[in-house]
Amino acid sequence: MRIAIYPGSFDPITNGHLDIIQRSSQVFDKLTVAVVKNHSKKPLFTMEERKGLIRKTINGLSNVEVDHFDGLLVDFVSAKGAQVIIKGLRAMSDFEYEFQMALLNRKLQPNVETMFMMTNHQYSYLSSSMVKEIAALGGSITDLVPEIIRQDILDKFRKV
Ligand code: PNS
Repeated sequence: MRIAIYPGSFDPITNGHLDIIQRSSQVFDKLTVAVVKNHSKKPLFTMEERKGLIRKTINGLSNVEVDHFDGLLVDFVSAKGAQVIIKGLRAMSDFEYEFQMALLNRKLQPNVETMFMMTNHQYSYLSSSMVKEIAALGGSITDLVPEIIRQDILDKFRKV
């Protein structure tokens, strides 16, 4: 069974993430979306909120599950019995950081492959931090995040 892990902060999940999830779930038998417990970046959404928002959007994708991890990504990948890390690539600006992480992850765990999927061009400008900034400043996040969670995200900003 070919199992892939799609890791990230997902603070919150965007249409760009969902596009990568949908496309990679067709290539692998099983895909685990793995939410990192961030120590460096303080997330806006709690772990349970981030996982809940992902679960709402992946409804209908039977081979996709949501989990979280703390510590090294490659250790989580091995514990899951997975062989592949999936990463989405947007603009060239993603490349250097992703290249460094892919090489370091291979050094840490040579059996794990990192595979990159090019984002759909209409999402190449999209990021969770921009979604949060737009929502915080009262702009429209329609088409940026899955419609089913749009109100959940807006509600968060009403509370904070
Ligand atoms: O969505 P993000 O914030 O760009 O995701 C970054 C993530 C979670 C993929 C990266 O921070 C990560 O893998 N963290 C786990 C810790 C780890 O394994 N670090 C060594 C990477 S070489």
